[in-house]
Amino acid sequence: MNKYLTATIKENSRINGSNNLLALYIKDTSENPVPGQFYMLEVSSSYDPLLKRPLSIFRKINNELQFLYRIKGKGTEKLQKMREGTNISIIGPLGNGYPLPSEKQIPLLIAGGVGVASIFSLAEKLDKKAYVFYGGRNKDELVMKDEIRNFAKELFISTDDGSEGEKGTVIDILNKFLDSQGSMESLVIYVCGPLPMLRAVAEVAVNKKIAGYISAEENMACGIGACLGCVIKTKHNYKRVCREGPVFSIHEIIWE
Ligand SMILES: Cc1cc2nc3c(=O)[nH]c(=O)nc-3n(C[C@H](O)[C@H](O)[C@H](O)COP(=O)(O)OP(=O)(O)OC[C@H]3O[C@@H](n4cnc5c(N)ncnc54)[C@H](O)[C@@H]3O)c2cc1C
Ligand code: FES
Repeated sequence: MNKYLTATIKENSRINGSNNLLALYIKDTSENPVPGQFYMLEVSSSYDPLLKRPLSIFRKINNELQFLYRIKGKGTEKLQKMREGTNISIIGPLGNGYPLPSEKQIPLLIAGGVGVASIFSLAEKLDKKAYVFYGGRNKDELVMKDEIRNFAKELFISTDDGSEGEKGTVIDILNKFLDSQGSMESLVIYVCGPLPMLRAVAEVAVNKKIAGYISAEENMACGIGACLGCVIKTKHNYKRVCREGPVFSIHEIIWE
């Protein structure tokens, strides 16, 4: 199936804080992305920066692909300046996506910052089945809370400065929830966010023997498995985040 697509920017706007929403119109609707998959986006019409940038699929509505992104550096700065009507080359959907929980499992979805983009699409798919834990530095960093509340069994929020939800990190609200649970056996974790948060959640999962999945992040060059620029160390040797991931078992990654 053709993954090399040309899309047209329908909307590219600031939502709040440093979060932006990008909506692309695509003519070719042949392949539907699943939660956890991503696209490589050309962020400039010149060769600077040369490489496309990876963004998780946030939502797809008919012929419209939506992404949530935060400005990090040159590429995302340029992306933010691209106006409606501009054509943009994209590759996707790429990667493996989240394995869905079994009927018996209770999914715990954990999002940090803009990691909410891929967790949102999973929450939507699981429709009221999942507990969602969402942390940010302050209330201006949190987006789409009302929508998430609609899809979640329950939404727990934390902010570092206490401006919304519990004061502290997402690990604090997760631990509080786990302390209220009898058995960990039927729980399954899904997490996407910054590296220190991924490590901390993985530590909780290992200590409490909870199953789960992590959406890993690495800088990407090709996005299609050819350059080996995105490898991470796992218990089963090195794996490419763009091809074998970005979703890995929470117990598989070797943190260095
Ligand atoms: C599978 C995947 C899905 C992603 N989904 C989203 C998303 O939905 N929304 C979103 O805002 N961001 C997402 N990212 C991160 C996003 O790709 C980077 O923020 C972006 O590529 C930075 O490009 P830049 O040119 O603006 O910054 P650069 O100038 O390339 O880098 C600026 C800073 O950001 C760091 N950085 C660069 N790339 C990454 C990366 N991949 N992960 C973490 N830090 C990085 C650099 O180390 C540097 O410190 C995703 C990354 C991956 C791998
Ligand atoms: S980015 Fe090239 S192999 Fe993953």
